[in-house]
Amino acid sequence: MIDIIKPDKKFSRRELLTGTGKLAIGAALISAGGAALVSNAEARVKYPWPYKKVDPDRAAEIAYENWYKGFCCYAVASGILVPLREMVGEPYTSFPIEAVKWGHGGVIGWGTMCGTLLGAGFAISLAAGHPGEKVLNEVIHWYSETELPIYKPKNPKAVFKATSVSNSPLCHISVGKWMAKEGVKFFSPQRKDRCARLAADIAAETARLLNAWADGRFKPAHAPQAKIHQMTAQNNCGDCHSK
Ligand code: HEC
Repeated sequence: MIDIIKPDKKFSRRELLTGTGKLAIGAALISAGGAALVSNAEARVKYPWPYKKVDPDRAAEIAYENWYKGFCCYAVASGILVPLREMVGEPYTSFPIEAVKWGHGGVIGWGTMCGTLLGAGFAISLAAGHPGEKVLNEVIHWYSETELPIYKPKNPKAVFKATSVSNSPLCHISVGKWMAKEGVKFFSPQRKDRCARLAADIAAETARLLNAWADGRFKPAHAPQAKIHQMTAQNNCGDCHSK
């Protein structure tokens, strides 16, 4: 039995279908005409969701501030998804961004994939679908090959000097190289701010690449990893394998 939500305000059928009305997506709805039921399948917005260009500076600011609320994965996902909630509305509004928080510390402290990249992956997937994997691949290359962090917060929560190139998307290696360079411990205010700023950088780069993709200007510079190495892999082979 399908629940019927009675709108207290009248919505057009189009508003109901596109979710610009205030009603829950996926629920059975009464059209403005009052009779026709819209099925669950019809009301659900197709994947991927509509994308509108996100300002990279705004994405960075949100990510920096939100790192302190839910860490790296949540920070980057919200840097992209909060502006999309404002510009597009549903279904972004109903997506619980807090649900991706577990990516922190390379998945709850296991130091595997950096949470910023997992956060980017969630946002890119929702906005660009499976073809977005090419965009994510470029974000991961940029993360691994760039001297980070670059972002300068308006109100920094800690001061530090070091920037580092991770040569790897792994949290443990990325944060470890930076900690060694700065000479601080993991639970220091400097390390926290380094990761918050790095989240800002990844959110901004994700927005830049998604915007290029939306404009039809995106050109992948790299092939998929498994195709290159004939195995799933990171690129810093020598860090773990002796020659
Ligand atoms: C984060 C560390 C790490 C990195 C980086 C890494 N590997 Fe490995 N790799 C391992 C470990 C650990 C094993 C398992 C080795 C074993 O048990 O003998 C392995 C296994 C392998 C194997 C299969 C077993 C063998 O020795 O033939 C191949 C091939 C391989 N790696 C190639 C690469 C290549 C090529 C790269 C770079 C593109 C790479 N690895 C990067 C850690 C790493």
